[in-house]
Formats: sequence, structure tokens, C-alpha cells
Amino acid sequence: MSKKSAKVIEALEKLLADSYTLQLKTQNYHWNVTGPSFNSLHLLFEAQYTDLAAAIDEIAERIRALGGKAPGSFKAFAKLASIKEETESPKATEMVKNLAKDQDTIVASAEKALKAAEEIGDEPTVDLAIGRQQIHQKNAWMLHAHLE
Ligand SMILES: [Fe+2]
Repeated sequence: MSKKSAKVIEALEKLLADSYTLQLKTQNYHWNVTGPSFNSLHLLFEAQYTDLAAAIDEIAERIRALGGKAPGSFKAFAKLASIKEETESPKATEMVKNLAKDQDTIVASAEKALKAAEEIGDEPTVDLAIGRQQIHQKNAWMLHAHLE
């Protein structure tokens, strides 16, 4: 790993941990959601965790390409993530509120990776981080639309 990339790798590790945690949380909600919005939320959550599954692989492999080691355990993710995993059984509206907030958290994680990458002219990571921001901002909009 070049010393130059250390900050980028650190930020990507956090983005990976947040993405993994959010994937599991979103899938948890996909399985356990109930109520009159069941069908639309079940499908919305599925689309979101499916995207995250692909993103996780992309982020982890970017860490490897930069010479870092990709974290890959629940223990490591729990330590690195800002997003809190779900251990309760919230109502559908709470699920949507929680995920909407988590989208903002992960946009901030992507922002940190973006800034670190910009500092060293790491354009592939800049591109990856911008792509993740766009998707999570769109997710936030879709989740908020369910609350209005
Ligand atoms: Fe399913």
C-alpha cells in the first residue's frame, strides 16, 4: 500500500462497513415488514439491498486495488460502521425513518472517501464515491416519499 492511499483506504473501509451493515438491516426489514404498505416496502427494500450487495464488492475490491486489506467479518464491520444494526422489530414507519436516516449517514461516509480521494487525485475512487452518493441520495428521497 502506498502511504498516499492510506487515508483513502481508511475511508473506504468505513464505507464498506456502513454498506454491509445497511445491507443486512435493509434485508432484515424486507423480511420482517408488516402492514398496509407491505408490498411496496418489501420490494423497495429488496431493490436497495440488492444494489448494496453489488456495491460492497466494488468497494472491497477498490480497497484491494489500492493495496489495502478488505475487512470481512461482522466484528470488523461492527467496529468500523457508523450505521447501527437492527436488533428489534420496529413498525413499518419506523423502518422507513431509520433507513432514511441511514442513507444520510452513508452519504457522509461516501463524502469522506470522496474528499480523501480528491486530495491525492485518485479519480477511480472519486467516481465510486460519487456514484454511491447519488444512489443513497435517491434512496433517501424514495424513503422520505413513503412518509409524506
Ligand atoms: Fe426476498
